[in-house]
Amino acid sequence: VSDGWSLAGLVELQRHGCALTSPLYGTVLAAVAEDLDRGGPCHQILAPHAGEPLGSALVLRLLGAVHRLVLAGRAPELAAHYPSAGGTPGSPEAVREAFTTTVARLAGEVAAGTDEAVQTNEVGRSAALVGGYLTVARLGLPLRVLEIGSSAGLNLRWDRFRYQADDWSFGDPDSPVRFTDAWRGTTPPLATGCEVADRLGCDPNPIDPTTPAGAALLRSFVWPDQLDRLARLDAAIEVARRVPAEVHRADGPGWLAEQLVEPEPGLTTVIVHSIVMQYLDHAARSRFSATVEQAGARATAAAPLAWLRLEPRDDRAELRLTLWPGGHELLLATSGFHGPPVKWQG
Ligand SMILES: C[S@@+](CC[C@H](N)C(=O)[O-])C[C@H]1O[C@@H](n2cnc3c(N)ncnc32)[C@H](O)[C@@H]1O
Repeated sequence: VSDGWSLAGLVELQRHGCALTSPLYGTVLAAVAEDLDRGGPCHQILAPHAGEPLGSALVLRLLGAVHRLVLAGRAPELAAHYPSAGGTPGSPEAVREAFTTTVARLAGEVAAGTDEAVQTNEVGRSAALVGGYLTVARLGLPLRVLEIGSSAGLNLRWDRFRYQADDWSFGDPDSPVRFTDAWRGTTPPLATGCEVADRLGCDPNPIDPTTPAGAALLRSFVWPDQLDRLARLDAAIEVARRVPAEVHRADGPGWLAEQLVEPEPGLTTVIVHSIVMQYLDHAARSRFSATVEQAGARATAAAPLAWLRLEPRDDRAELRLTLWPGGHELLLATSGFHGPPVKWQG
């Protein structure tokens, strides 16, 4: 039992989470549920993990391990049903059969892959974050970006993507990462230019997206019938090869405190995170907040501080910005957990 959830309950919870946006995983998870009922190979792989916390996303780890083998060409019978590998889903019965057969045949590797933590570095979140960065850029200073929970650091390259709306655009016109029609409602007066002077991130479990293993891990956690997200990820990996951004292996709160020791006059320091706070325990969140508040109190007009975050609230994500000196907090936008559609709050 994981945080009060049985394995069957976890699978059902995940099935509910995938139902609207990944019909293929809806079918796959039905196969996992049947397998649990009869103590099949999925049950054998999941059972040793039963006590792990809900946040460790056990079921997504199993699905990612299998997807990794599919993308590596190790499971042609299942690849025939996975659009990410060029297949077409076909009948639910055939998908269920292929999934269970694959897990049985590659059980050792699936079990080993299930040990890997889920790493979803979602580039779509930059479609929301860009409005925050460009609001900060109106202060007129270049930005020093410090990201907590960067994963592979893809969103650290946010200014090298292209954003195109009816009444504004920003970014590299030739970027392979393109956002169009991602925004709803009015657009606030955003800066039209923005220089990123420095970009640095941290993650306890960073991924190098420029290595084949790193790219394969990232790709495996995108749901196989979400080809637009996969294409965006591949495009962002291409940008990452051209635009360096370091991600230090470190725990967020302590790392941030170290980065903020020296103020940087002439730059606006931007502390940023997206869908990270739920991974910090209560003590770590308190340390993080205290570090941000203390740095805010030290901020000056010559060395301003911005805290930009995209974090869940109920069934959506909220983009909030606090600026120091002053400590004014703004709700800038709401969006989906993966970014678009982004609704400006004005
Ligand atoms: C859902 S992912 C979001 C990744 C990225 N921010 C994005 O939006 O695509 C959560 C990230 O938080 C990281 N994380 C977990 N605990 C952390 C901690 N104590 N300090 C910093 N990052 C942490 C995870 O490793 C993971 O990369």
